[in-house]
Parts: sequence; C-alpha cells; structure tokens
Amino acid sequence: MLSAGVHAACEDIVDDKHDADRNLPAETRPNEHHKSIPMPILIRAETPADNAVIEQLTAAAFQNAPHTNHTEQFIVHALRRAGQLSVSLVGQDGNQIVGHVAISPVSLTCGMTGWYGLGPISVSPERQGQGIGTQLMQSALAELRCLGGAGCVVLGDPAYYERFGFSAQPGLVLPGVPAEYFQAILFSGNWPVGNVSYHDAFDAAE
Ligand SMILES: CC(C)(COP(=O)(O)OP(=O)(O)OC[C@H]1O[C@@H](n2cnc3c(N)ncnc32)[C@H](O)[C@@H]1OP(=O)(O)O)[C@@H](O)C(=O)NCCC(=O)NCCS
Repeated sequence: MLSAGVHAACEDIVDDKHDADRNLPAETRPNEHHKSIPMPILIRAETPADNAVIEQLTAAAFQNAPHTNHTEQFIVHALRRAGQLSVSLVGQDGNQIVGHVAISPVSLTCGMTGWYGLGPISVSPERQGQGIGTQLMQSALAELRCLGGAGCVVLGDPAYYERFGFSAQPGLVLPGVPAEYFQAILFSGNWPVGNVSYHDAFDAAE
C-alpha cells in the first residue's frame, strides 16, 4: 500500500485535477465526449468499508466479460490480504461505488524493480461506457507515477489500453499470452527486457 503521506499527496493531485476540470467551460471538460456523465465522479482510495462492495462490483463487471475465469473478485481480495494492493481506487457517484481499479507489483526476470501490473479494473455493468473506466485508469496511473513506479503492464484488450499510453513491447513477455494483449507503459528509466510475473494472488480461485 502507499504510505499515508504519498497517498495524501497523490489524492491532492487527483482532487486538484478534478477541481480544475470542474472550472473549465463545459465544452472543454475532459470526458465530456461521454455524453451521459456531465461531471467527473469522485475517485478515491479504497477503505475497509468498501471491501464487500468492491467484491460484488468486480464479480458483476466480469460476469459477461470475455476471457475471464470469473476469479477477479478473489484476486482483489487475495492481493489485499497479501498487502500487495499498491493502488486501489474506487469511483464513487453519490453514495454508490460504481468502479474499482487495482494495481500491484510485478516481478521481472531481468531484476528491474519498480514495475507494477494494472488490473483488475471494473465498472458496474449498468454504468459502463460512461467514462468511469477512463477516469479510474487516468487516476490510477497518476497515483502510480506519484508512488515512483518505473512502469506498468496490463493484460487486456489493446484497443482499450492503448488510449492511456500502453503499447506492446517485444522485450516484455507474459509467458503463455499473445504478445498483442500484453502491453506496458514506461514512466522512468529504460525499458526492461524479460518475462513478467504477477503476484501469486492472481491464482486465487475462491
Ligand atoms: C473495461 C471497463 C473497465 C471500461 O470501463 P468503461 O467505464 O466502460 O469505459 P469508458 O466509458 O471509460 O470507455 C469507453 C470506451 O472504451 C471502449 N471499451 C470499453 N471496454 C472495452 C474493451 N473491453 N475492449 C475495448 N474497448 C473497450 C468503449 O468502446 C468506449 O470506446 P469509445 O470511447 O471510443 O466510445 C468496463 O467496461 C468493465 O468493467 N468491463 C468488464 C470488466 C473488464 O473487462 N475489465 C477489463 C479487464 S481487467
């Protein structure tokens, strides 16, 4: 988990950005092309009171998603128990939690440190396509930069993650996965070369 100080600083950046966005003319606000969300929702760090809702939300989001074992809610829980939720943000609209994103450390065979994996990311089925996933992605990546992360990998649809700056890197491999579905973004330093491993929590099945 982030230290309280870093977390607070990062939240300030995220909040400042949202405050600044609210002051923009409506036609120039980020996410305005998602016509059904006139204002950004609140993006904040998870608290223990959110755990059950995050679990339900994650299960619901992935219920009809392709390429899933329907274990994502167990993965989030196992990451939390293992103290590996480096970033865990919820999207809150009014009193309702409508989205969640997790980031956890990954290991690289080349020994480079400071690398993380983004996911699972979930938006309530009835709220998908309204820009909430975009806000969660941008906030999570901003917080990871704030944390000092060197870079981040993601496994998923390249068409979705490319828009946030991810790209497939020939030297970064998740064994057993088609190369185009495994992408990365570099924040600092040089690109690593090697195989990537997620935490054992990604094997959680209950
Ligand atoms: C993927 C997900 C997090 C995106 O959140 P969202 O709030 O629906 O996304 P946004 O509204 O910010 O962005 C919508 C855009 O992303 C695209 N998009 C959404 N899901 C996509 C996917 N799985 N693959 C490719 N593009 C996708 C939409 O077509 C839309 O494109 P447009 O802006 O060009 O119209 C959400 O749809 C979700 O929870 N899906 C089920 C769980 C899942 O698959 N998670 C990702 C794997 S870890």
